[in-house]
Amino acid sequence: MAKVAPSILSADFANLSKALEQCEDGRADQIHIDVMDGHFVPNLTIGPTVVKDIRKQTTLPLDVHLMIENPQQYIPQFVDAGSDLITVHVESSGDMQMTLEMIRDAGISPGITLRPGTQLSLVEPYLELVDLVLVMSVEPGFGGQRFIPESFDRISSLRRSIDSNDGCSTLISVDGGVKLHNAAEILAAGADIVVAGSAIFGTDDPADTIRQFIAID
Ligand code: DX5
Ligand code: ZN
Repeated sequence: MAKVAPSILSADFANLSKALEQCEDGRADQIHIDVMDGHFVPNLTIGPTVVKDIRKQTTLPLDVHLMIENPQQYIPQFVDAGSDLITVHVESSGDMQMTLEMIRDAGISPGITLRPGTQLSLVEPYLELVDLVLVMSVEPGFGGQRFIPESFDRISSLRRSIDSNDGCSTLISVDGGVKLHNAAEILAAGADIVVAGSAIFGTDDPADTIRQFIAID
């Protein structure tokens, strides 16, 4: 069974509680929250205040994907807001190891992620420090883009690096362009979790779509 993280970026921001109910109803594994600052990516979304309000509405784990410059500066606010996992971009500014340790020391899970054009070797030094690597399969910034096919090889290659690293149980999550029709291939390439936004919230029955994702082998 697949683990599914619906990305609320494609939900109606004026009706987030409805989206969260749909995630619970469909038994999603975690809620993926995309935080964008208009600098690291050319789009603006939400900040810690909204994450805090989401926290009050759901018991599902909150998987916070920070697409922001200088993430270290904002870690305390996202921790206080109730995040369970905070994922930072390897391309963002600041000392990556310190940032990841700061997240771990706050008692929650650190994750690392990379743009589709960034070499995997840049995240490999951090594999033992993180609980999850988020492989971006679109250029970060917007929902509803097409899955970049080269991502399959990147997922498999990362899977091999993790599996050849004794005792390393870091999970692989894949974000961008994930649909019901390509999720099986993404999981077969080595992903543990799929993030899906438009493929879930663009349907008439998001809870049922989440169930269909989970049922994928
Ligand atoms: C893009 C975000 C994704 C986005 C995925 O920068 O990180 O999480 O919501 O959207 P879809 O599933 O529509 O490609
Ligand atoms: Zn994301």
